[in-house]
Amino acid sequence: MTTYKLFPKDFLWGGATAANQCEGAYDVDGRGLANVDVVPIGKDRGPIITGRQKMFDFEEGYFYPAKESIDFYHYYKEDIALLAEMGFKTYRMSIGWTRIFPKGDELEPNEAGLQFYENVFKECRKYGIEPLVTITHFDCPMHLIEHYGGWRNRKLIDFYERLVTTLFTRYKGLVKYWLTFNEINMILHAPFMGAGLYFEEGENVEQVKYQAAHHELVASALATKIAHEIDPENKVGCMLAAGQYYPNTAHPRDYWAAMQEDRENYFFIDVQARGEYPNYAKKKFEKLGLNIEMTEEDLTLLKEHTVDFVSFSYYSSRVASGDPEVNEKTAGNIFASLKNPYLDASEWGWQIDPLGLRITLNAIWDRYQKPMFIVENGLGAVDTPDENGYVEDDYRIDYLREHIKTMNDAINEDGVELLGYTTWGCIDLVSAGTGEMKKRYGFIYVDRDNDGNGTLKRSKKKSFDWYKKVIASQGTDLD
Ligand code: BG6
Repeated sequence: MTTYKLFPKDFLWGGATAANQCEGAYDVDGRGLANVDVVPIGKDRGPIITGRQKMFDFEEGYFYPAKESIDFYHYYKEDIALLAEMGFKTYRMSIGWTRIFPKGDELEPNEAGLQFYENVFKECRKYGIEPLVTITHFDCPMHLIEHYGGWRNRKLIDFYERLVTTLFTRYKGLVKYWLTFNEINMILHAPFMGAGLYFEEGENVEQVKYQAAHHELVASALATKIAHEIDPENKVGCMLAAGQYYPNTAHPRDYWAAMQEDRENYFFIDVQARGEYPNYAKKKFEKLGLNIEMTEEDLTLLKEHTVDFVSFSYYSSRVASGDPEVNEKTAGNIFASLKNPYLDASEWGWQIDPLGLRITLNAIWDRYQKPMFIVENGLGAVDTPDENGYVEDDYRIDYLREHIKTMNDAINEDGVELLGYTTWGCIDLVSAGTGEMKKRYGFIYVDRDNDGNGTLKRSKKKSFDWYKKVIASQGTDLD
């Protein structure tokens, strides 16, 4: 057995889910309709999540996987008990906005929704699991989309303020770690799913996206302010869909292209972690003729309420080229990248690059010097269970082992500050990108298929005991 260096004693090992991908119960106990409900599986999903095809309600002939999902809403006790059995120190999950404010613009919250999350947090605490809560993981109430245009409308800041004030007040003492927006940069790549943006014919898409991004950035700073006022113990983080860009060759124009691509993503975190719009972004707006409305108060809020830590998802590195002739692409987390010939890929074409995680950790650390949290990482794969639901998922163990090793190097060899690691989809759930159930990430198998058939029975995969051992050994035993 190879023994690896210890992770910090209080390192937060765990796993992550999102409300819309696991809860189901989409219309139970007063929950309202959200954008994440009306995105079907199938070929129309792409155009819908990117705001190019309008789908504001359920339509005949489509299957909507989030409606039932894996029914965490009713299985949460059983599921949290399994996470506790693995020794989880933290569990990342998200709030369904429309459980708390079904339409989004009400003055009073829905008590049943608040009670549900209170039960979930108490269940976690029962096992000593620290909840890590994403306030919005792609959710936006459909009412706010239909009547206000989603995040393009400044009023969304007020509704979000009401949501976060309600959450921070109600869950004071139960929750300490908060993330304001999941993968905030997804607003550029999946604007309907990320921010409730649907584009009308002839609209200036870039103008709408960056104006909506400004509203989210202000809302995030406001949430950070309120979180600290309500409970100085609260720690608020931003969340980036990360993955460093590599230049396709050593040609300077490729390096430049990689830098431009990185800036497109880091732009959000530059604002949230440093407190101001970077000059390259202001120049970009000028060049594109964008006029982003922002007030003096907005700029003060951004400056004075930066995040406490920087969290991110990491699945793969990416490649950029300044040569327009180079365009062989491969799939990735929502947005595609050029293919890297040195890397293998998952069954969905996502390239596998463990060293890229160390590179990304160092790049983010060098840029912000704030504690970091890896809140998503994992392998989406087809699992074949035996008759007891047991899966020999050595491929998943290999993926995670190699990433944990480079994470260890980043901490112990490079000195980055990392608070914790939550693997994505610790229990099988619906894929955000494709809506499939068969793209599985979990340590726990859930009997459900792409068409919604299955008993929903939970069973442990081989990786379940492996991860349990990793946590118990503080990351030293990865065999
Ligand atoms: C991230 C999201 O984009 O990647 C998750 O925050 C998502 O919601 C995860 O599920 C994996 O992507 P996918 O498309 O395989 O579900």
